[in-house]
Amino acid sequence: MAVRSPRLIQIGQEQPASVRAELLRGLAAQPASTSPKYLYDALGSRLFAAITELDEYYLTRTEAAIFARHGDEIALHRPRAATLVDLGAGNCEKAARLFVPFGVQRYVAVDISVDFLRHSLELLQRQHPAMELVGVGLDFSSRLELPTEIGDEPRLLFYPGSSIGNFTPDQAFDFLRQVQGECRGGGLLIGVDLVKPVEVLEPAYDDPLQVTAAFNRNLLLHINRLTGTDFALADWRHVAFYDTAHSRIEMHLEALRALTVRWPGGERRFAAGERIHTENSYKWRAEDFAALLANAGFSAIRRWTDERGWFAVFLAQA
Ligand code: AVJ
Repeated sequence: MAVRSPRLIQIGQEQPASVRAELLRGLAAQPASTSPKYLYDALGSRLFAAITELDEYYLTRTEAAIFARHGDEIALHRPRAATLVDLGAGNCEKAARLFVPFGVQRYVAVDISVDFLRHSLELLQRQHPAMELVGVGLDFSSRLELPTEIGDEPRLLFYPGSSIGNFTPDQAFDFLRQVQGECRGGGLLIGVDLVKPVEVLEPAYDDPLQVTAAFNRNLLLHINRLTGTDFALADWRHVAFYDTAHSRIEMHLEALRALTVRWPGGERRFAAGERIHTENSYKWRAEDFAALLANAGFSAIRRWTDERGWFAVFLAQA
């Protein structure tokens, strides 16, 4: 038998100079902010994996419980699509569980860099020698356009984990329209975290073991490497809170004293207590998210939730 190997495609990787310019623009802005994508350097990705093991971080566990309990029924309603496209695939673990029940023939793992995918896909190919595996390095946070190399058969797009929560509602709408365009004739399977009491939400993003604090503060080390800034960890603390008006968790890094951050060619003063906004994590009401999907052009919208109604998995046709 011919041994298949994963095909790897990298699309338009951002130049270090433009990454640097974008980051420094955000740091110089009033208020300062950074894109959450920079939370995921090698250590950041491992810290996020550790977060998913915390008792307080219910999202990953709850989504998995929904698939464990309702997986057969979800699969029953799957669109006719043999190509599974995994947005933000990472270790490809969640998607691999869909291969058999969803009858997947071609798996396309998309992540910001193809380097993150190579190893996971090689392991996966050994377990599924007959499957066609494709890795696509693509930053889809501002625009989703899948490469034509993945073929034009109907696709099931998979966007688990409530990563959609990083988008504002307007951005989420634009993104879902692009998703709809990419899966016409197929569908979308997406995990969404729901609005719930603040007593549950805040510890999930500010855990007593301070793993989330490490995840957030590690961003400063990543930015130092990318831009040459001189952020000192000791000067910054992790702040996370639920903003009821916007239905979102906000993560910030707060300066513990008045200080100046310097980089080649510039600097920025921060007053004591001044913050850098590092992430939004929107929480949806299930009805509102169903309406968003419908407005973005999806139909046959179905949803499954856990017993507590904390998280929802939506399946929709495009
Ligand atoms: C990966 C974006 C879904 O918002 O819950 C975890 C990232 N941030 N703890 C989330 C995250 C802080 C996570 N997402």
